[in-house]
Amino acid sequence: MANKNLVAARANKQDEFYTQLNDIEKELTHYREYFRDKVVFCNCDDPYESNFFKYFALYFNALGLKKLIATCYDGSPIAQQELPLFADESNEPKKKAYKVEISEVPDMDGNGATDLTDVKLLLKSSDHNVKAELKGNGDFRSPECIELLKQADVVVTNPPFSLFREFISVMMKYKKQFLVIGSQNNITYKDIFQYMRDNELWLGYKSGDMSFRVPDYYEPRETRFWVDGEGNKWRSLGNICWFTNLDIQKRHEELILVKNYSEVEYPMYDNCDAINIAKVNDIPCDYKGAMGVPITFLDKYNPDQFEILGLDDHHVAWRGKGPELNGKVIYRRIIIRNKKTQIV
Ligand SMILES: C[S@@+](CC[C@H](N)C(=O)[O-])C[C@H]1O[C@@H](n2cnc3c(N)ncnc32)[C@H](O)[C@@H]1O
Repeated sequence: MANKNLVAARANKQDEFYTQLNDIEKELTHYREYFRDKVVFCNCDDPYESNFFKYFALYFNALGLKKLIATCYDGSPIAQQELPLFADESNEPKKKAYKVEISEVPDMDGNGATDLTDVKLLLKSSDHNVKAELKGNGDFRSPECIELLKQADVVVTNPPFSLFREFISVMMKYKKQFLVIGSQNNITYKDIFQYMRDNELWLGYKSGDMSFRVPDYYEPRETRFWVDGEGNKWRSLGNICWFTNLDIQKRHEELILVKNYSEVEYPMYDNCDAINIAKVNDIPCDYKGAMGVPITFLDKYNPDQFEILGLDDHHVAWRGKGPELNGKVIYRRIIIRNKKTQIV
């Protein structure tokens, strides 16, 4: 019964969303330069189930990685019933949190191409590759995972959704480079927003819809849930994005502005001196004051072009809800200023 309750509590947190290899590959093509001679740490990733581990094992040589570390959390409700991504080992029960460290991925088939999806083979293939039990539960905040974090150059994972803010604060505390998946809703939390405002954190390439495989015990839902031909359960979320502090080309692309400011089209908020912009594409090219834009602006944000002044207000430290327009509280707004406009 206790175990049933534990599983239910974990299910409520909605933390078990497994990222598809395809989504990882598409995003990671933009960051290749950051991995040469680097230690990559996937710290919410059971090697037997995680496509992040699989991606870095597959591309270990192509990226020129120095080392790949993955730690598995023993709180994972699928412990001992792994998703069979790595089919050869799926029947080997996992009882404890453990780490895997990969320092060498030999060309096993001798044809120059490495296609390793078998962790056991990967571990056998080199004395430098190790698997070891952890003393604790593999929590990314635990002392031994923090010791591994200190060794790492870049952390890449999809952390538990319920611990996203804590995860980012750990990355910041240890001054790590990272690329992680999270919900766009995180942007409206004070700590996360402030990192974004201060250009310590920004969005990666893909934003929007993403599908994730979920464990069998996840309850069916009316929307954004399906079971595939092999009986695997899936969920999709519409507000997923990548968060990173790795510099990317996209962040240096100028947003083309074609509209002109007019008092009628761009009313001032009731409780903050900024004009309201209904859609990101409507940002006028000739307004130099404060403007409130939808949160989706962050997907287009170029810090050379715009300055972020605040969330919902730039006069008070934290309003915590959208600004008021014609007596009504509207959706959350990022208050920005165009650094290049000199006109109005
Ligand atoms: C959103 S899932 C993603 C799993 C994997 N990274 C992927 O992308 O497929 C988050 C994972 O973190 C694990 N987890 C939950 N709490 C954790 C913690 N405190 N420390 C480390 N991992 C944790 C969960 O069990 C789950 O497997």
